Amino acid sequence: MKRITAIPLAALLAAAILVSGPGAQEPAPLVHAADDGLALTPPMGWYPWNAFGEEPQNEALIKEIVDALVSSGMREAGYVFVGPDEGVCFSRGADGRLTPNLGRYPSGLRGLGDYVHARGLKYALYTDAGTRTCSTAMPGTKDHELEDMRAFAAWRADYIKIDWCNTEGQDIVRSYTALHDAQHAAGRPVVHSLCSWGEGAPWQWAGRVGHLWRTTADICAPGQPDWAWGLRMAFANERLSAYAGPGRWNDPDMMIVGMPGLSDAQNRSLFSLWCMMAAPLIAGNDLRVMSPATAEILTNLEAIGIDQDPLGLQGRILWTDGNVSIWGGKRLFDGSQAVLAFNQGRYPADVRIAWKDLGIDPQSACYVRNLWTRRTQGPLTGGLSVGVAPDDVVFLRVATSDAFPLPPIISADAYRISLRTENSAPRTLTGSIKVTNRGSDELPFWTIGGGVPPWLSVRIIKDGQSQVFVNSVATAGLKKGFYYALVRADNVDPVSGRPMSSLYYDLDLEVVRNVSR
Ligand code: GLA
Repeated sequence: MKRITAIPLAALLAAAILVSGPGAQEPAPLVHAADDGLALTPPMGWYPWNAFGEEPQNEALIKEIVDALVSSGMREAGYVFVGPDEGVCFSRGADGRLTPNLGRYPSGLRGLGDYVHARGLKYALYTDAGTRTCSTAMPGTKDHELEDMRAFAAWRADYIKIDWCNTEGQDIVRSYTALHDAQHAAGRPVVHSLCSWGEGAPWQWAGRVGHLWRTTADICAPGQPDWAWGLRMAFANERLSAYAGPGRWNDPDMMIVGMPGLSDAQNRSLFSLWCMMAAPLIAGNDLRVMSPATAEILTNLEAIGIDQDPLGLQGRILWTDGNVSIWGGKRLFDGSQAVLAFNQGRYPADVRIAWKDLGIDPQSACYVRNLWTRRTQGPLTGGLSVGVAPDDVVFLRVATSDAFPLPPIISADAYRISLRTENSAPRTLTGSIKVTNRGSDELPFWTIGGGVPPWLSVRIIKDGQSQVFVNSVATAGLKKGFYYALVRADNVDPVSGRPMSSLYYDLDLEVVRNVSR
């Protein structure tokens, strides 16, 4: 039996009003988190919990995943944050300090961080705002906020997921604020990923103290993805669209895309929903055994471009009959907009998408880009009809031109430079980092922020679509010892003067002997 669902235009509009009317929550005034330039687009990366749970997590596993992120092309597609989730990474010593578990992480947590940074990825760790983590296997940060944030800074973490287990009697806003303040005092800019599963309505206040917050329960038990449960996370997150924006994101949890038991259509749908909602794209599948179909889904730059759009709007449901939903409300940087038709029903559906329901003049001649078939249709006036298979989506971009440019999608070949000199005569040492944008336009030149020490100078040169950060160290007059710089670079929109993105990298210098002038 084939059921045809045609959507009457009036219903589309009425439903759009309904969905954004009663029941939808109004945003509280949002204060942007620190002016750290972090997470101006939704963070992308990989975390181990969904595939592995706690037990098999160790240094060898994380390193294999790091290598897979690079070899699969995921890094170039923007997935950069990676590291252990809960899995006995550290314990607390009698002096109150965190001590890495060298049984599981023989290189230490700083050593693993260096491995991650050397491969052009950013280091993610996990902790908890309470007395213990969820499994109780690791200490939480309660009453140790500053020393723990200092430990994370010393390990060179760039991203910390902060869980909300074992927090009885704690005030949620105070607890996460204390961690934010401690992280600032520790001096290393870090993306804070709050994980209270929606408890305490973090969307109302967490933009001040973090960059993303879980809005829902866990998307799956480790190793047990569930399509229907995954969709519940998406629909719960959808209601909060008004709260998302650059530097502050609703997080419906790490993705289950590519986990065993899900079809390609289901993977495509889940990925499209996450992109449409400007959700953090944290993959949770085992990248070492990823199928080509999953890799193609996770690295589809046209879909990623919707997620990573600099305006940072979270799309929402314009119309639904319970089986088919049409998602919109996601205007993009070039004036185009993203539209998603999703069919949760058991039968194929025909869906009518009308320009006027997208706020476009019906007489406008528009081009339509299908982000999965990668075909462009048009110019079309009025709208278009699409067929959507069960569990599948049609993911579109609608524009008055057929250019469909991609926003910046940035990756680097390293986030750490390590230099050493044994020479007592002055030298110039150099180390470079290559930053590549896979978006359509060349980026303006990055500008280096203040705070670069006098022995270091950074020059940026163009290399095709990439820019190379050439770091030169003048060793004259340096004393024997270890030197360190955290370099910040901003990519600033020349018209508005607004930073479009910031990147940070570490530079370590070892001077083995005193150097003459
Ligand atoms: C919570 C989080 C999960 C995972 C586990 C680890 O349940 O929501 O994502 O980090 O803790 O115990």
